[in-house]
Amino acid sequence: MPDRMFRNVGMDLVRVTEAAALSAARFMGTGDKEAGDGAAVDAMRAVLRAVDMDGIVVIGEGEKDEAPMLYNGERVGNGQPPQVDVAVDPVEGTRLLALGRPNSIAVIAIAPRGAFWSPGASLYMEKIVVEKAARDAIDITLSPTENLERIAQALQRPVSDLTVFVLDKPRHAELIREIREAGARISLQTDGDVMGALMAAIPGTGIDVLMGIGGTPEGVIAAAAVKAIGGGMQGRRAPQKEYEREALRSNLGDSIDQVLNLDDLVRSEDAFFAATGITDGPFLEGVHFDRAGGVTTHSIVIRALTGSLRYIRGVHQLKPEHIFGRMDTDGAVQIATR
Ligand code: FBP
Repeated sequence: MPDRMFRNVGMDLVRVTEAAALSAARFMGTGDKEAGDGAAVDAMRAVLRAVDMDGIVVIGEGEKDEAPMLYNGERVGNGQPPQVDVAVDPVEGTRLLALGRPNSIAVIAIAPRGAFWSPGASLYMEKIVVEKAARDAIDITLSPTENLERIAQALQRPVSDLTVFVLDKPRHAELIREIREAGARISLQTDGDVMGALMAAIPGTGIDVLMGIGGTPEGVIAAAAVKAIGGGMQGRRAPQKEYEREALRSNLGDSIDQVLNLDDLVRSEDAFFAATGITDGPFLEGVHFDRAGGVTTHSIVIRALTGSLRYIRGVHQLKPEHIFGRMDTDGAVQIATR
């Protein structure tokens, strides 16, 4: 059983996502996905250095060869206890940011060492997420219609009152058809299923259920949030590419179809999740450069152990080095400009 983290490092984590969002926000609408993501990675990494933790990135920007920073296996934090695993998505919704669309966020989740499920070769995962009151009603092996009926019953509302977040992808044509036939409402979004999961897990956000296939790393990050909120989630590997299917088949054989419950995805009661809005969204406002000499951010931080959920509005008096800061190997901050 991994060690408990006795301190609430949530506030430190918000500083990390705030820094990523502040840096990335300058790239809103530029059409450049990589630049916004790169700025967020630099900022996140720089602020992570000061956090009291001995962290290892387990969900990051990829393997070391393809990602110079925040790669899987990279050590982050100042090396002090607690020993934790770190899952990051400096810009969740890179396309949303590049096009100036709603709901791009900077995200981090941590849990005691060894607690996060490892995606291995799995790139895509089927997910279903609901709030606490319906968490025992979901069963990913049943049809969407059956799930919606069970969720509606648990929430004591008709299916027609439920709103389901679904990524607007060709792979979801049949899912969308079935949800429509079942009579539920759909919120079709091009990207950003971590936000979809967050909204589905928190009552009263306007989203009741998340269904469909999205990224596996995003699924693990979302699981940390859902666990912290006390919501319900199940997942199942859903390979979309032939090479992904092959790799999973040779590594796992028949257990590809294994149902992943929340406790499989996050094997600890002490996970943290923090997110800061980059572009405006219905749930989390983005970065606003609208105050004389100041910039406003909007964040959420959740701790599983206590169930505390904080909404934090930050007003920042920014110096140039607080944005676009790239950390050299010797720790010096270089200022990059757009
Ligand atoms: P990025 O921020 O990496 O672009 O991810 C956005 C996202 O929409 C995720 O929210 C989702 O899980 C995944 O992409 C879906 O992948 P795909 O666009 O390949 O279907």
